[in-house]
Amino acid sequence: MTASVQREALSGVHPHERAAFPRHVAIIMDGNGRWAKERGLPRTEGHRQGVETLRRIVRHAAKLGISCLTLYSFSSENWTRPEAEVSFLMGLLQRFVRRDLAELVKANIKVRVIGSREGLSPSIASLLDEAEAATRGNSGMELVVAFNYGARDELTRAMRKIAADVAAGRLDPAKIDESVIASRLDTADLPDPDLIIRTSGEQRLSNFLLWQAAYAEFFFPRFNWPDFDEKAFDEALSVFAARDRRYGGLSQKADA
Ligand code: IPE
Ligand code: IPE
Ligand code: MG
Repeated sequence: MTASVQREALSGVHPHERAAFPRHVAIIMDGNGRWAKERGLPRTEGHRQGVETLRRIVRHAAKLGISCLTLYSFSSENWTRPEAEVSFLMGLLQRFVRRDLAELVKANIKVRVIGSREGLSPSIASLLDEAEAATRGNSGMELVVAFNYGARDELTRAMRKIAADVAAGRLDPAKIDESVIASRLDTADLPDPDLIIRTSGEQRLSNFLLWQAAYAEFFFPRFNWPDFDEKAFDEALSVFAARDRRYGGLSQKADA
């Protein structure tokens, strides 16, 4: 981030009141395997390093005043990986929660987990519940962990809820609008992501926030996730600040 953007970000105006500052940043943390391969290490080492990056970025985003940070940690399609890698990733999540929950509580960060709880082991599911419960009263940055998350799965579950409400006579089909749909998604009550960052140079969504990303800005740094750092995050914020978001309308920028 340039010095001026940083100054602005940290100045008296609450960052959320300024359009140039994203309220909600979502990150597709990709490239752990490639990072490890480049160094002749096992893929698991890339995942381990990836958690270190995650911890740094969570702290940094909270410090900057980002109100919501979503991290794509495990997709509903990642189950197709070799069993040893999947169980390593499950173990890593458990270690992260055990090791960092106290610090998250202290930092006033509120944890929310999106994705399906189905298919998760009871011990992981209860650990996720514990992280949410322990931070429920916090009022600072919302840390949304997308775990066992796939947007098509999320939309499918939302449609089932809507269908059940209609079948039970609680919902009139004519009243189904965008807000009804949004309220049945895992992200209910969260703002849509303003900025989606995907590391590793890959430029695709891979089933991430398909509904919510309708007007998101994208940033694709070439770094693999373990090499992503505070400076790269700041750069994403300055690129975002220079974007002209039109939402199908006309530019609101004075110089456009
Ligand atoms: C992202 O890194 C972490 C997860 C998907 C869990 P990858 O494991 O996808 O790393 P690459 O893309 O194979 O390099
Ligand atoms: C997306 O990365 C999921 C996460 C980062 C958790 P993938 O590595 O699974 O995506 P593809 O397979 O390259 O599309
Ligand atoms: Mg990948």
